[in-house]
Amino acid sequence: MNHLTVESTDKAEFYQQMAQQHGTPLLILDCDQLVKQFNVLTEALPGVELYYAIKALPHPAAIQTLDVLGAGFDIASSGEIELIREQGASARHTIHTHPIKRDSDIRDALRFGCTTFVVDNIWELEKFVEYRHRVGLLVRVSFPNPNTKIDLSRKFGCREDEVSMLIQKAQSLGLHVKGLSFHAGSQCPDSRNHVHAVEQCAKIIDDVYQNSGKLLSVLDIGGGFPVEYIESVMDIESFCAPIRLALKNLPDHLQIIAEPGRYLCAPAMTSVSSVMGKAKRGDTCWYYLDDGVYGSYSGQLFDHVTYPLTLYSDIKENEMAVLAGPTCDSIDVIAEQVSISPLSIGDLVVGHQMGAYTSATSTNFNLFDKAKIVVINQAVKTVKNVLQFGKN
Ligand SMILES: Cc1ncc(COP(=O)(O)O)c(C=O)c1O
Repeated sequence: MNHLTVESTDKAEFYQQMAQQHGTPLLILDCDQLVKQFNVLTEALPGVELYYAIKALPHPAAIQTLDVLGAGFDIASSGEIELIREQGASARHTIHTHPIKRDSDIRDALRFGCTTFVVDNIWELEKFVEYRHRVGLLVRVSFPNPNTKIDLSRKFGCREDEVSMLIQKAQSLGLHVKGLSFHAGSQCPDSRNHVHAVEQCAKIIDDVYQNSGKLLSVLDIGGGFPVEYIESVMDIESFCAPIRLALKNLPDHLQIIAEPGRYLCAPAMTSVSSVMGKAKRGDTCWYYLDDGVYGSYSGQLFDHVTYPLTLYSDIKENEMAVLAGPTCDSIDVIAEQVSISPLSIGDLVVGHQMGAYTSATSTNFNLFDKAKIVVINQAVKTVKNVLQFGKN
């Protein structure tokens, strides 16, 4: 599928202005999009508390925006805790979801005020013994998902038949297990694995109660909600409808939380890079951009995603082209064998849906600068300031 469109529209002017004002490479973070995504997912999953997985886009403006909307935060490292702390977000609405932690990670999280942690094995449980009066644990269960390229159940999560043994072990250590968690895989093409996982967790929760009288009170259904890149995906309402049905069958007392990353932030960021050089190699024109797979397009390697691109041109005839990044490595190519109008040095290439797992995983290999992130429409920050003023 050709993921490149050529347009000559007013939008080009906006990107030109931004490029002139800030230089390239750029990433434009539009907070209005974060608000929209949060509201749509909240409507699609009523009664589910959303904890933003900040690993997807650990940017202060994203955290401030989602904090004002009432999101909680999924944190997985001391660095992420520090970022949340700096934005003044409440520790009460955080969960530490990394199943493997050092003692210093646990201490940093507790010092911050985060008291919910995810575990998936005995050795991890033992790390909590000295903090047993201060923590509530979620046992992460693995539900492999062969339907997505980003299956997060290989590296983490215990088998379903290990849960009761872990809960017994926790009880013998004086630890409080308050629930279960899973991650059905990222960028899931459909919600079958979410539904399967919810149903299996319901059985486990029932078994635990029948066998030990212990009532688990939390189910964390993870992330995995998809966005459209170059292939179309289910709209979020259709994706969530079967999950809603499955959740309806759970006992009323259960608190349901989710940890969306990609869905909230992917549409919120747009990349603007420019052509810094060109060469004719055989029949193909090579364009060298000032951003590539070692930079904002790192998700093409790490996240297995190809981003929709737009070029702005009035020229009608096409040529075969390669769009490459700036580094000296030959894997640094973002689009190959594309048929596009000829570009000039300085022309812009715009990448869409580039908020999730892009700047988060970019490097400055070859010491090329990472793209500058420019925030627009950060209105809710002002609202928060006003609210804070109101408190004083
Ligand atoms: C524990 C955990 N929670 C949530 C997420 C976010 O997933 P997604 O971006 O698919 O919503 C991830 C992604 O790696 C994760 O590992």
